[in-house]
Amino acid sequence: MKFTSFEQYKQVYQHSIIHPEQFWDDVAKSFYWRKPWENTLNWNFTEPDIKWFQGAKLNITENCLDRHLAENGDRPAIIWEPNDPTEAHRVLTYKQLHDKVCQFSNVLKNNGAKKGDRICIYMPMVPELAIAVLACARIGAVHSVVFGGFSAQSIADRIKDAECNIVITADGGFRGTKDLPLKSVIDDALVQCPSVKKVIVLTRSRTAVSMIKGRDVWWEDEIKKVETQGSPECPAEEMDAEDMLFILYTSGSTGKPKGVVHTCGGYMVYTGYTFETAFQYQQGEVYFCTADIGWITGHSYIVYGPLSQGATALMFEGVPTWPDAGRLWEIVEKFKVNILYTAPTAIRSLMSFGTDIVKKYDLSSLTKLGSVGEPLNEEAWHWFDEQIGHGKCPIVDTWWQTETGGFMISPVANVTPLKPGYAGLPLPGVQPILVDENGKEIEGNGVSGNLCIKFPWPGMLRTTYGDHERCRQTYFSTYANLYFTGDGCLRDDDGYYRITGRVDDVLNVSGHRIGTAEVENAINMHSSVVESAVVGYPHDIKGQGVYAFVISPERHEDDDLTRKDILMTVTRIIGAIAKPDKIQFVSGLPKTRSGKIMRRILRKIAEGDTANLGDTSTLLDPGVVDEIKEGAL
Ligand code: WTA
Repeated sequence: MKFTSFEQYKQVYQHSIIHPEQFWDDVAKSFYWRKPWENTLNWNFTEPDIKWFQGAKLNITENCLDRHLAENGDRPAIIWEPNDPTEAHRVLTYKQLHDKVCQFSNVLKNNGAKKGDRICIYMPMVPELAIAVLACARIGAVHSVVFGGFSAQSIADRIKDAECNIVITADGGFRGTKDLPLKSVIDDALVQCPSVKKVIVLTRSRTAVSMIKGRDVWWEDEIKKVETQGSPECPAEEMDAEDMLFILYTSGSTGKPKGVVHTCGGYMVYTGYTFETAFQYQQGEVYFCTADIGWITGHSYIVYGPLSQGATALMFEGVPTWPDAGRLWEIVEKFKVNILYTAPTAIRSLMSFGTDIVKKYDLSSLTKLGSVGEPLNEEAWHWFDEQIGHGKCPIVDTWWQTETGGFMISPVANVTPLKPGYAGLPLPGVQPILVDENGKEIEGNGVSGNLCIKFPWPGMLRTTYGDHERCRQTYFSTYANLYFTGDGCLRDDDGYYRITGRVDDVLNVSGHRIGTAEVENAINMHSSVVESAVVGYPHDIKGQGVYAFVISPERHEDDDLTRKDILMTVTRIIGAIAKPDKIQFVSGLPKTRSGKIMRRILRKIAEGDTANLGDTSTLLDPGVVDEIKEGAL
């Protein structure tokens, strides 16, 4: 949706909340449906039961690929930049991407994939990852992408939860100086996963791998087979609007990650609409999102959102700091990138390398900037604005979640007046409210509270896979008739929203969501650990760091050795992204008489704010607090 003025945005916003169904009806009409819907929306937040565009038939890949072919088949759909700058980049036009998706769809079918099957994808950031995702969608299989940084145990948990029958992976992948042994990690995971019958392995790193007869096949061999079968076409499976499109696992406040479920129709409409609206995307612009497809940002804003709008999306295999901290700027210059969408962690980390390296590159092609994943602090905002945007690019600070499918609160580029540190105003169709502890609405401006959404939007999660009750409890039971985001938020005098961070036991480390309970479970797996408590603390670059308080009476002589062991355990159970930054050994944890850990106190100690620990008199053993304070790292 394009806007020419802030006034117009405000009018459309008003209309969208007074007549939401009419608003979404109009938005949805700009997509291609095989059969239109009978009902725009049926909903209640108690169950919850949410259905958008019921009765409609579609396939999301016809919107992302086929419908662009006639007029824009030769336009680049995906530009891919490899990890190593000396390797050649690749460009796939819409026509080429369409053909590759069809081919691989046929490969999936040849390997027994059917509509409704769950397929796990564990791949590096190469175009074949996008192709695999789209091929699943084309044949109506449900993809469950697992980020390449997760461990074998995490993959196994996710595969078992979704009962996947196929895994798509690669021999290995590259990220900076690291080689990721993807296939070997999958082999370790699959020892626990009898449901998996086929593993399709792409050649990327040429690392030696072992292939199991009857189970493992090479991507390239399978493509050759379909090539000799003749027609490269693969008709798209007809899907109901509410059929499942994908599962994506994300962390919550309990130990077990939950499978957030998105459906075909609503998610398509929402990602396409929000992509075009927030960035005010113009045909032909080169759009670079630095996220990994393993996270929701990559799903919604590298694959589905941009492609449904016929955009040119640049995907990058590597990391911003290798071979040096100029890598992103080099890519911007090389491909004349117009829109750069990245994360506060990346901005803060690049900031720390100074501006000399930035000045080596021509960034004049940039017209719009974006940020996602964590609060973008003002210092980083200004650096991004001045050094990268040269003061002429709006920064769209997009607030949203895996569960929301797409942007919720975000500036509209060149339309909404900006405020550093603020995500700003809700996009048309989105109805945020702030509530107090008891769920009472906090009205007016200049207030803060817990952020909820009071009316459905097409991109919202429908359930958590295999456990609807968990979905109800996590998001819809804290406050009656509201979707609870888990975020704290303030609304200033102009009605602008500023997200202040999670109010539950979820950490946001470098923009990655990590549940404290998950990390504790992993630490407790270590044989010498009796108990642990994990909290977050402010970290200059990562936003939040992970601080673990650990009771481990039988330690090595050398604490550092025990620490290393614990880090290895966490890496093995979850993945390196969840490794604690600090481990403090303690003899006890501050607990209430009923045995509950007082995290509030631990958080204060981790933050270094030991002067204001508040009331400790209700503790079972107040003495333990002094000991922890003294040993604080
Ligand atoms: C946080 C990522 C401040 C927030 C798309 C949310 C943000 C969680 C912003 C979701 C932002 C995301 N400003 N905080 N612009 N965007 N968050 O599911 O705490 O990985 O609840 O989705 O990230 O993380 P998730």
